[in-house]
Amino acid sequence: MGFVWSVHSCPLLLTLILKIKTNPKIKSGGQECPPHTQIEMLLFFLSCQGVFFMFEDLRGRTAVVFGVANKRSIAWAIAQGLHAAGMNLAITYQNERMEMEAKDLILSLPGAEGFMCDVSKDEEIARLFEKLKGRYGKLHALVHSVAYAPAEELNGDFVNTTREGFRVAHDVSVYSLIAVSRAAAPLMEDGGSVITMTYYGAEKVVPHYNVMGVAKAALECTVRYLAQDLGRRKIRVNAISAGPLKTLAARGISGLGDMLKGHAERAPLQRNVEVGEVGSTGVFLASDASSGITGEVIYVDCGYNIMGF
Ligand SMILES: NC(=O)c1ccc[n+]([C@@H]2O[C@H](COP(=O)([O-])OP(=O)(O)OC[C@H]3O[C@@H](n4cnc5c(N)ncnc54)[C@H](O)[C@@H]3O)[C@@H](O)[C@H]2O)c1
Repeated sequence: MGFVWSVHSCPLLLTLILKIKTNPKIKSGGQECPPHTQIEMLLFFLSCQGVFFMFEDLRGRTAVVFGVANKRSIAWAIAQGLHAAGMNLAITYQNERMEMEAKDLILSLPGAEGFMCDVSKDEEIARLFEKLKGRYGKLHALVHSVAYAPAEELNGDFVNTTREGFRVAHDVSVYSLIAVSRAAAPLMEDGGSVITMTYYGAEKVVPHYNVMGVAKAALECTVRYLAQDLGRRKIRVNAISAGPLKTLAARGISGLGDMLKGHAERAPLQRNVEVGEVGSTGVFLASDASSGITGEVIYVDCGYNIMGF
């Protein structure tokens, strides 16, 4: 589990940053390094170690996070960030098979509670939100970090996509966002933020991503329609488009190694994204710092998507 520090309240970190600012002579690779680069290097190094920096205070607010399978899950990184910012957390996992690993993680976040919910089942969604209403009353954020397509759809030719594979991918990865947003909206009495996870394969062909690319395109479009519908209730809906990360879901895509290598080589920042960076963006989108943003796809991919070649 990552440590969570607040930059404002961590004297050691502030001292380090001040030292860097007042001592511009520190050298990197034989060259003098400007203070802002040194601070970026320090923050990047610490985020790689799982140390999160939160500038937001979300105490007294409640979020429900869907999609924690294990410690590599993007949902887990966002949950850790939201917890660090002070939110009450309801964290869901898919089924009994996922329960043990997810529950151990959830227990490590004081105050967070775990709930089981298969988002392809309307009755489970209804039951979950009844429980959330009774337990928390109001909700302020919802994180939808869930996707699935049968493994055989992610390694063959796209032209062989089956009717059932297409249906399942869209049901679990796209329709579920509509279903959980509809269930959450009445609990978001003071407005709220819905966040989902997408990938660049929605816009451009990524070999082997196949039907999931089509589902992500539908998901991004769903974000815009939901943002329009729910805007009048002060509920914002956005997607984070993350660069590739080695998670359980990503392991199902053949050629993940090549994808990671290609991204790191071509991205302007010349590296792959860290899961903590996706987590911090989740916190930003859940917070009032992003109050004017809705219906958007925010890229957290080290800039990969801007490249033409
Ligand atoms: N890993 C990447 O490279 C990457 C990049 C961009 C976007 N994403 C997206 O991020 C999201 C999270 O994936 P991840 O990479 O953290 O992998 P993950 O395997 O950790 O998370 C996927 C989650 O979806 C859940 N899930 C699947 N079917 C479900 C169902 N019927 N009901 C409830 N939950 C269900 C799984 O239990 C799991 O917790 C997905 O939408 C994925 O497409 C991942």
